[in-house]
Amino acid sequence: MTAKINKLVKSSVEDNLVIIIPEKEKLKPGLISKEELKYVETCRKNKDSLIVLNQFKRWLIIQLVPEKYKGARLLEELRKSAVSLHKILNASKVERIVLSHQAENKDQLLAYTEGLALANYQFLKYFTKATEKLHSLKEIHISSAKTSQKEIQELVNLVDAVYHARDLINEPNSFLTATQLAKEIKLLGKEAGFSVEVFEKAKIESLKMGGLLAVNLGSVEPPTFSILEWKPVKAVNSRPIVLVGKGVVYDTGGLSLKPTADSMDYMKADMSGAAAVACTLFALAKNKIPVHVIALVPSTDNRPSGNAYAPGDVIKMYDGTTVEMLNADAEGRMILGDALAYAKKYKPQLGITIATLTGAAARAIGKLGIVTMTNADRKTVEQLKISGDNVYERIAELPFWDEYAEMIKSDIADIQNVGGSDAGAITAGKFLEHFTNYPFIHLDIAGSAFIKKADSYKGKGGTGIGVRLLYDFICSQA
Ligand code: BES
Ligand code: ZN
Ligand code: ZN
Repeated sequence: MTAKINKLVKSSVEDNLVIIIPEKEKLKPGLISKEELKYVETCRKNKDSLIVLNQFKRWLIIQLVPEKYKGARLLEELRKSAVSLHKILNASKVERIVLSHQAENKDQLLAYTEGLALANYQFLKYFTKATEKLHSLKEIHISSAKTSQKEIQELVNLVDAVYHARDLINEPNSFLTATQLAKEIKLLGKEAGFSVEVFEKAKIESLKMGGLLAVNLGSVEPPTFSILEWKPVKAVNSRPIVLVGKGVVYDTGGLSLKPTADSMDYMKADMSGAAAVACTLFALAKNKIPVHVIALVPSTDNRPSGNAYAPGDVIKMYDGTTVEMLNADAEGRMILGDALAYAKKYKPQLGITIATLTGAAARAIGKLGIVTMTNADRKTVEQLKISGDNVYERIAELPFWDEYAEMIKSDIADIQNVGGSDAGAITAGKFLEHFTNYPFIHLDIAGSAFIKKADSYKGKGGTGIGVRLLYDFICSQA
């Protein structure tokens, strides 16, 4: 559950209090007794970074800021440290906590708050006894003269956006069909104030979105194509940034059925790119960021059936490109190709895809970041990398040389949807680039969108990766 996060209005001596202080700094006098101070000194000697004092009426907790880290890395350590705090609060059933920073370092205080809020996420919808599992934390109050309510609210909206993304990813396909995903996106638009138009199957057919329709052939559920737009009155850009998110609500591999027993278990998460773009717009709209952004979400499930598209088929895409489909499991690029071609009509300043696109990307860097390929100018790419470091959804750039495009040439059509066993993440990127005529960034989140084991504030299951990155990046353009 989202804990309420507010600026502290009225403090009380019974408030559970966390004080963040630099490792070597002394605690301000008057806060604790002599005996407690002794205990704190012992803890410091033992190199404990989280010191918990039970003061009978309340908890007083000291969070030390390690000296050995700097900059973005230090902020990430603080987000992670907040997870240890969260465990203690939960074990002691604490509902309300006040956070403060002795040196009034706003960035550190907000990073810590962010880690704590993200750690409080749970997906309990399908438990019959959900309330028994609910985390205790309900209210986080920020005690800080230097942090404004506006800054806190911006963080709240961003955390909220990540929660929404995680919810969507964690939803099984039994609930989240392509139609349902479009409905959920409409709800997000309504709540945050961005517009949403949804193309149903008939419209998609009349537009001849051949890639999306081909992947959908094996399904009993119709496809959808959602167009989201955040167009603030005072936008700084004359041409929009267009985000495209992969909305495969379930990927069996189609007729090229996924091989191993467990490779399908989490394929409900194959719409994590869609969740990322929709929830990025949610955060942008909630925080009224003055950048014009459009997001496109092509969506379907990918299944085998008597009618399913088959390896060897030639598909005519939305822009007329013919594709020899040689692996039905390389379906993401088929639906994204149509969306990228559709995006041309907006004359984007920049197009960005985000997708759980290839196992190759996951194998290359694991779950630690986002595999990226791009033909955008270096200044833009450097900013993307800075944003990646800021939010610790880091960017690992792969080469995007022209020669890779040779690997997806087909003998009987313009291109084919697989490029062989080498450089699988890159040839997928090249396939997507084919459908663009604008600067392009491709983000492959196959490794980091869904995690099976709990990992710090990212939790377990859908991580919502991409939301904080895209939000930070787009804000940097404002
Ligand atoms: N959705 C998968 C990629 C994926 C794999 C995401 C593991 C998350 C975890 C994608 O549609 C896919 O199956 N890609 C194939 C492409 C191949 C057939 C060229 C892959 O990576 O194996
Ligand atoms: Zn696939
Ligand atoms: Zn897929």
